[in-house]
Amino acid sequence: MSYSFTLEAILAIGLNDAIGNKGTLPWHIPSELRLFKSITEGHTLIMGKNTFVSLPSLLSNRHHIILSNTMPVTDGVHIVPSMSAALNKADELHSEKVLLIGGVSVFHEALHECSVIHVSRVMLAPEADTFYAFNTLHHRIDESVCFRDPSTKVDIIYQKYKRII
Ligand SMILES: NC(=O)c1ccc[n+]([C@@H]2O[C@H](COP(=O)([O-])OP(=O)(O)OC[C@H]3O[C@@H](n4cnc5c(N)ncnc54)[C@H](OP(=O)(O)O)[C@@H]3O)[C@@H](O)[C@H]2O)c1
Repeated sequence: MSYSFTLEAILAIGLNDAIGNKGTLPWHIPSELRLFKSITEGHTLIMGKNTFVSLPSLLSNRHHIILSNTMPVTDGVHIVPSMSAALNKADELHSEKVLLIGGVSVFHEALHECSVIHVSRVMLAPEADTFYAFNTLHHRIDESVCFRDPSTKVDIIYQKYKRII
C-alpha cells in the first residue's frame, strides 16, 4: 500500500548503543530534547507502548499513534495493534510527515523504510538496559552537525540520513 505522507525516524544513541534506561532516556540533555521537539512538532508520531509510557505527558501539537496489544483506551492517543494499522491510522489523520520515535522493535520493523533518519550520537556511554545498534545499508549521511549542550557539556553529533536505495 502507498501512503500520502513521508515516513521518517528519529533516535538518540550513546557510544555503547544505549537508548534507554529504567523506562526513560539514559541522559537528560536539554538541547537534544529541543532538537527532538523541532524535528517532530506538527507531525504524527508512531511509538511503542513503553516509549509512550516514558513520556512525561502528551507532546503538544503532535498526533500520537501507540503500538500495543495490551494498552487500555487512553484520551488523546490512537492505539493500534500493528505497524500496518499504525500507517493506516497516520493516513486517516491526513499526516504529511510521520516519524517513528522508538523503541527497539519499532526501529527494527520499519527504519529501513524511512526516507530520512535523524540520529543524535550522544558522546556518552551511560548505564542502560535498552540498546539499539543502528546501521543502515539503505541510507547515507546527508548532513552532520556537532554541538555541545551548554548545561551538561555533553557533545552530540546530529546526523541526517537520507534514503539512497
Ligand atoms: N534514545 C531514543 O531515541 C529512544 C527512543 C525511544 C525510546 N527510548 C527508550 O527506550 C525504552 C522504551 O523502548 P522499548 O524498546 O523498551 O519499548 P517500545 O518499543 O517503546 O514498546 C514495546 C511495546 O510496544 C508494543 N509494540 C512495539 N512494537 C509493536 C508492533 N509492531 N506491534 C504491536 N505492538 C508493538 C508492545 O506492547 P504490548 O506488549 O502492549 O503489545 C511492546 O511490548 C525507554 O527507556 C525509552 O526511554 C529511547
